[in-house]
Amino acid sequence: MNATFTRFDHSQADDWREIDLHFRDYREGVVDRVVAHLLRLEGDTHGYPVDRYTHCLQTATRAERAGADEETVVCALLHDIGDDLAPDNHAEIAAAILEPFVDPLNLWMIRHHELFQGYHYRHFYGLDRHARDDYRDHPAYPRTVRFCDEWDQTSFDPDYDTLTLAHFRPALERVLGRPPFEGAGLPEVRNASAEPSPGIDTRNRHPKST
Ligand SMILES: [Fe+2]
Repeated sequence: MNATFTRFDHSQADDWREIDLHFRDYREGVVDRVVAHLLRLEGDTHGYPVDRYTHCLQTATRAERAGADEETVVCALLHDIGDDLAPDNHAEIAAAILEPFVDPLNLWMIRHHELFQGYHYRHFYGLDRHARDDYRDHPAYPRTVRFCDEWDQTSFDPDYDTLTLAHFRPALERVLGRPPFEGAGLPEVRNASAEPSPGIDTRNRHPKST
């Protein structure tokens, strides 16, 4: 059953209860859709030695073998998932997917990894390879340097023993299956006259992520 309105300002609470049921089902399938999108990165290498799919898997493999925690490994797995949709600011795609489920420092790491990775190539374009050092006092600086230097920029090796997506799927399910926004959760649909519920306003959900 679908909601009956044709414009939001005609909607009633029952409409939103119906939509909410669909939404909760739909969000359950997010891991399948994320996996499907990772698979879209398979094939074209865009001139690199490996395609982005292999690069994502290899980055996650290196992170795992270096002893990174599960959340960091999943960040590595998804860090370039937005390359095809947003080639000029792809990190924002991964950050948006991960934001509800990961530590603010890991979120910052993913959001800034393009600039930090640039240490390894920006000078070939006449740009400042040390631009990342503007953030040297940020608490996520060390982990972002490590992410790029040890796992990301090294993961273009077609001969590396890269783990499969099936290997990472359980970790992906666990991390993306966490209660979003540190348990703030989804609000319940109420009648319009009900008092606003405290604690579900996520506008300031990550005060540490500056
Ligand atoms: Fe990368």
